[in-house]
Amino acid sequence: MKKQIKKSQQVSFEQDRRSFIRNLALTGGALATTPVLLGEEIKNTVTKKDSVVFSYKRKLGSLEVSPIGLGCMSMTSGHYNPPRSFEEMEPVIRGAVDRGVNFFDTAEIYGPFTNEELVGKALKPVRDQVFIGSKFGFTYKDGRPAGRDSSPEHIRKAVEGMLKRLQTDRIDLLYLHRMDPKVPIEDIAGTVKDLIKEGKALEFGLSETSPETTRRAHKVQPVAAVQSQYSLVERVHENQTLDVCEELGIGFVTWGSVCRGFLTGKFNEYSRFSEDSRYASVDYFTAEAIANNMKLLNVVNKWALKKNATPAQISLAWLLAEKPFIVPIPGTTKLHNLEEDLGALQISFSQEELKEFRDEFTGIELIGVRKPESVLKDA
Ligand SMILES: NC(=O)c1ccc[n+]([C@@H]2O[C@H](COP(=O)([O-])OP(=O)(O)OC[C@H]3O[C@@H](n4cnc5c(N)ncnc54)[C@H](OP(=O)(O)O)[C@@H]3O)[C@@H](O)[C@H]2O)c1
Repeated sequence: MKKQIKKSQQVSFEQDRRSFIRNLALTGGALATTPVLLGEEIKNTVTKKDSVVFSYKRKLGSLEVSPIGLGCMSMTSGHYNPPRSFEEMEPVIRGAVDRGVNFFDTAEIYGPFTNEELVGKALKPVRDQVFIGSKFGFTYKDGRPAGRDSSPEHIRKAVEGMLKRLQTDRIDLLYLHRMDPKVPIEDIAGTVKDLIKEGKALEFGLSETSPETTRRAHKVQPVAAVQSQYSLVERVHENQTLDVCEELGIGFVTWGSVCRGFLTGKFNEYSRFSEDSRYASVDYFTAEAIANNMKLLNVVNKWALKKNATPAQISLAWLLAEKPFIVPIPGTTKLHNLEEDLGALQISFSQEELKEFRDEFTGIELIGVRKPESVLKDA
């Protein structure tokens, strides 16, 4: 017989869950035996009473970043929620810094422009303690995106605007957001190389490029990071991209790390999205896909129970355990969700567990994910 849960019990369960997540984030727990190597041990830092201790960092070129960064897109862009005010979001960004996060992701197109303004404003007082990644690649008309443009003169113009909005003299990780088919990648990489020489950027990144484009770019200017969608649900980049990154010593920054919220358990088979919602245009958020893909979430939930963790934490810990050069940048507008996400740093997988987990989830046929051969073309 199913047990009835009273409203008061639900509240106390939620409180217990939150305090559990917080304790896990702050004190550690759920460590498995013979954990896989998580990254280079750089330093142990215990600075503030309430801050998470990161005992290691990950390298993106010369940048030593926290193993989990913060994706700032949905703070202003209205992708998954209505745009939030700077007053609401600055404490989230600064709260992340207080909790040990030193890597922040934004782009010219988020807003457009307002996301860089927010990130620049929030991080100005701590600018030298953090790394900012931002992306160019689009042109705008009347404040709206109007196609791709990565011609050298446009990149230079875009970077001047980015520096102004970010209130900084350098972009730590300057990405090409989407390949411009009109411009050879060598010209784009060459322009970024010049910007690096001038000190306006420190490192070069690519986003959703094909393995061939990544290789060609890397010959002109070493690529520090490829940023593409990768999670337990969308694993298309296991076809070649990860291998190319490993071979060339390129970091892999994952967006969609919690599958836009699906892997946190915030949706279920009854979730539906209105036509004007961003979710409605995503193939793995159709009614059929969600219902089917719950099978994968059930496996994640099982491992979450096994490791005293939440599904979001299992999803992020799995990414960290997969490769020591992976840096997830979960996006959130909420400090308590960020704390939950950072709790992933306390969860490890042994090689045997990784295999067991993979055997379980690869047995599930997913709906709405990309075909393996699609990575052979730039997105
Ligand atoms: N290079 C590219 O082409 C590209 C494309 C898309 C995004 N990005 C970057 O990658 C970042 C992350 O990607 P994403 O935002 O698309 O996907 P994501 O990180 O997989 O998912 C973000 C969503 O998950 C929710 N979430 C996160 N942690 C949660 C938790 N612990 N519990 C409940 N909900 C949680 C957030 O909601 P709440 O706000 O309610 O927490 C948000 O709606 C973006 O911010 C952006 O910087 C890059």
